[in-house]
Parts: sequence; C-alpha cells; structure tokens
Amino acid sequence: MKERISKYLQEVENFKGESLEQLEDFRIRFMSKKGLIPALFADFRNVPNEEKKEVGQQINMLKNAILEKMSSLKDKLTSSDEKTRDTIDLTLPVDSQVGTRHPLSIVRNEIIDIFSRIGFSVSEGPEIEDDFHNFTALNFPPNHPARDTQDTFFIETDPDILLRTHTSSVQIRVMQNSKPPIRTLLPGRVFRNEAISARAHCIFHQVEGLAVDTDISFADLKHTLYYFAKEMFDKETKVRFRPSYFPFTEPSAEMDISCNICGGKGCNICKYTGWVEILGCGMVDPNVFDNCGIDNQKYTGYAFGMGIERITMLKYQINDLRLFFENDIRFLKQFESL
Ligand code: DAH
Repeated sequence: MKERISKYLQEVENFKGESLEQLEDFRIRFMSKKGLIPALFADFRNVPNEEKKEVGQQINMLKNAILEKMSSLKDKLTSSDEKTRDTIDLTLPVDSQVGTRHPLSIVRNEIIDIFSRIGFSVSEGPEIEDDFHNFTALNFPPNHPARDTQDTFFIETDPDILLRTHTSSVQIRVMQNSKPPIRTLLPGRVFRNEAISARAHCIFHQVEGLAVDTDISFADLKHTLYYFAKEMFDKETKVRFRPSYFPFTEPSAEMDISCNICGGKGCNICKYTGWVEILGCGMVDPNVFDNCGIDNQKYTGYAFGMGIERITMLKYQINDLRLFFENDIRFLKQFESL
C-alpha cells in the first residue's frame, strides 16, 4: 500500500499537463469514481489497524497533492489561453504585401514625364499589327533584308498579321489619323522571336517619339535627346551620335551616353568603351510621310525609339533582363519607395 502511494505521488509530481485535455485525463485517472484515489480508500479498509493512521495521512497527502496540482495547472493553462486571446489585436491590418510599381513602369512614367515637360503627348496602338503598319509604310519594301532583322512572330494562318516588332508601327497610325504639328510619345510592348537570355527577351518594351512640323531639323532632334539624357541620368551625362541605318529615317543615327556605371572610365557594362547605346533615331524619311498622306514638301520630322528595359538596366544597374519578367518579390520590393 505504502509503495503504491509513493509511486502515485511520484507520478503526480512529475506530471506536466501541457493541455486542458491532458489535465482532464489526469483527473479521471486519479479522482473519478473508478479512479485510483477511490480505489485506495476502498483498500484502506484492509490496512492493519496499527498502520491506519500513517497510511491514512499518506493517502490524504496524495489526494491534496493531486488537487493542488490540478488547480495550479488549470490556472496556468486557462490563463495562457486567455493571454493569447488578449494579444490578438483585431484592428491590426492583415500581414499582406503592399503593392509596388514595377521598375519598367517607373521608368516608362519617368520618360513620359520628361518629354511631357517639353510638350509631348502620349498615344498608343495595337500589339497585333498588319504588315503595312509594321513594315511597308515604314519603308521596308517587300522582301527587303531589313525585315529579317526583326525576328517577327507571324500569325500562322495569315502572314499579313503579326505581333508588332517595334513601336514604330504606331507612328504610322498617328500620322494617318492626325494632322501636323505632331509631338507625341508611343510607349508599348513589342515582340520578337528571340531566345531568352540575360540580354534579350521575346517580349520587351519600347518608347517611340515622333515630332512633325513645318521646320523641324536634325538640330531639334539632337537638342531634345540631349535634354532627355541629362534628365534621365544625370547632368554630367555625355551624349554622342553615330551614323546608322533604319528604313524609316534618313539620315539615321544611334545615340550613346557616357557609361553611367563607370562614368566613362570603362567597365564590363560598356565593354570598356566608356559608352552605351540607348536609342535609334533620325529624320522621318519622306517616303514614310507619303505613305501616311502627309505632304513631304511641306513637313519634316524626327523620330526616335528606345528600349525601356535597357534604360532601366542602366539606371538601376540591373544585369539580367529576365528579372523583369519573373516577378520575384525580393527584386520588386527594392523599388518600393519609387
Ligand atoms: N524601331 C527601331 C527598333 O526597334 C528603333 C528606332 C530607330 C525607332 C530609329 C525610331 C527611329 O523611331 O527613328 O530597333
């Protein structure tokens, strides 16, 4: 009997009671009608008289230890339950991500902002185009090799329909639908059948610029782009023009800026030349005016086109174009404050 009691006492002392369910099991084991304590009292009758006093005290001690344990555990478990309930503040906002602007949108908006300060509006055109607007009207003759440089996605059932390869197609739509003077920006997505890599993607974004009026010269084009480069990067940015070829402009040029990563000293971004190309431009070819019903004797104009990904990569020193399309929150979060 005494051994049983001290074994139970040990068990009571060791009992941890991690939950209200465990505590209830404990109560049933010892205190219920068929539990161990009533069983001890039942057996007490058979204890020899001279031991009754001692054994009786021990059973009472055990019973008290059980009651104490139960009450202290109960306090602890219910109050920790209440405590967690108290710490839930129902007025707190849910733990969610606050949306951020995509870096390409940030830069597109900045480009629009810079040009809108000097009088440019914004126009848009369709992503699914026809051959006329994407090529023919832009002075790409049928079967001209310049078409091959564009890696075009055609619609299989109709070779006349394609995904626009550049935003220059929107120049045509604007000139068909409005009269000079024109001074507008044409931002949008463009598509080319290129293998995806750190430097190329089959979808990317361009902003095109177009100005048409009675006395627009190459000097206007240069001055506008000088202004743009200094606003977009910084005032120290140097600019140079190199002669180039585009079917829809004559003369044509490409514009480089002094590498904003190394400041022109030479690094792997500028391939140690100190210069990076950021756009193509030129004077609108008279044939293009003709194709859009604009009098090429009366009007002149300039156009330019740039890749938004490229400008963004230079501005924020991003070295892999694929990052723009993965939507990895760790990447996007870095533009939170912009
Ligand atoms: N469309 C050309 C391209 O995608 C970029 C371009 C070059 C646009 C010269 C122009 C321009 O308006 O004048 O490579």
